Amino acid sequence: PPVPLPFIPYALVTVIILHIIVAVVYCRTKGCSLTDRGQTLSITAHRGGSVLLPCSCTELRAKPETFTWNRYNQNWERISSESGRYRNRVQLVNDHSPGNFSLLISHLTEEDGGEYECDAVSSGSMVIRLTVEEPPVPLPFVPYALVTVIILHIIVAVVYCRTKGCTLEDHQQLEGVTAYTGGSVLLPCYCTDLQSRPRTFRWKRHNSWEEISNKSDQYKNRVQLFNDSSPRNFSLLISHLTKKDDGWYRCTVDGDGSRDIRLTVEGCSLTDSGQTLSITAHRGGSVLLPCSCTELRAKPETFTWKKHKGWEEISNKSEPPVPLPFVPYALVTVIILHIIVAVVYCRTK
Ligand SMILES: *[C@@H]1O[C@H](CO)[C@@H](O)[C@H](O)[C@H]1NC(C)=O
Ligand SMILES: *[C@@H]1O[C@H](CO)[C@@H](O)[C@H](O)[C@H]1NC(C)=O
Ligand SMILES: *[C@@H]1O[C@H](CO)[C@@H](O)[C@H](O)[C@H]1NC(C)=O
Ligand SMILES: *[C@@H]1O[C@H](CO)[C@@H](O)[C@H](O)[C@H]1NC(C)=O
Ligand SMILES: *[C@@H]1O[C@H](CO)[C@@H](O)[C@H](O)[C@H]1NC(C)=O
Repeated sequence: PPVPLPFIPYALVTVIILHIIVAVVYCRTKGCSLTDRGQTLSITAHRGGSVLLPCSCTELRAKPETFTWNRYNQNWERISSESGRYRNRVQLVNDHSPGNFSLLISHLTEEDGGEYECDAVSSGSMVIRLTVEEPPVPLPFVPYALVTVIILHIIVAVVYCRTKGCTLEDHQQLEGVTAYTGGSVLLPCYCTDLQSRPRTFRWKRHNSWEEISNKSDQYKNRVQLFNDSSPRNFSLLISHLTKKDDGWYRCTVDGDGSRDIRLTVEGCSLTDSGQTLSITAHRGGSVLLPCSCTELRAKPETFTWKKHKGWEEISNKSEPPVPLPFVPYALVTVIILHIIVAVVYCRTK
């Protein structure tokens, strides 16, 4: 008996084909429904840039019969790339999807801010609120500026450290230093900035520019420095001053210039010099013979007291005067006695 098998596939194929036809027709006629139908989106863009206002059907293959993009300006005005404010600035971009009718606006201005409507008539409409902001500072500029600032800082720091060195105290008011013979004097020289690095320095005398140290004959064991305890203090202490120390001194700090100091050494000049004083005293008493320098701080290198008649020096060491006439008498007596004894001895012999 004939198997009715071939009949079934035909029916099945027919049913499938019918389903496909129905599906195609259904999809065609289903049309478009906007993704954000009836909603309002907010979008922010930058002045001078461009913005994409999205609007598409949920089913990208579906295409609404008609749609328009409108801008609200008292009432909804249609946006056209052919005329008006958006001429040559708007473009529909859709990635070849008929259901995508997103709008790209370029060269944005502040006036482009406002409400836009994507109106697909029966498929619905949606509103987009566009805000146009000032463009941000171009990003690459910030790192460059930062790098520039950092480099400038480094340069400034290096230059600052170079020049920081030592600034010698400038004693404008100090025209010179006065000291007295026999005394000592501090010739000041130091860095005003205590943060500066210690430097090497030298002290010199003007007439010879010979370096002053314990080794030089004139200042042997008379000079003292303080840079051991305070490295930025180059002051020089000279003791046991003499008139020969009078003159200009120069403190030179390596790489930071120098400083000149005039040292005046005042010696002793006697009060009543060249005059004769008369003083009366009593036998058995004592007397003070006055003699002093006009400047009591000045000390003469040497001084002596002498007495008239040969100007013999007076000191505790000088012998007390022996009564001279006594010696010859005794001597003469002894000699005469010797002679007498000798004569008497010879006679009796
Ligand atoms: C519509 O097209 C634009 C431009 O190519 C694209 O950025 C956007 O993602 C598309 N929308 C959808 C829903 O695919
Ligand atoms: C010079 O010699 C004196 C005495 O010996 C000493 O006190 C002083 O520190 C020395 N000065 C220097 C700069 O060496
Ligand atoms: C002090 O200064 C003298 C002379 O410049 C130098 O020889 C010595 O090394 C210095 N001392 C210190 C501690 O810096
Ligand atoms: C330098 O040292 C001397 C002696 O110690 C001191 O008298 C003087 O004040 C010091 N100068 C400074 C600026 O510290
Ligand atoms: C001399 O001797 C007296 C008494 O011993 C003493 O008071 C006086 O200071 C001495 N004078 C000198 C210059 O040494």
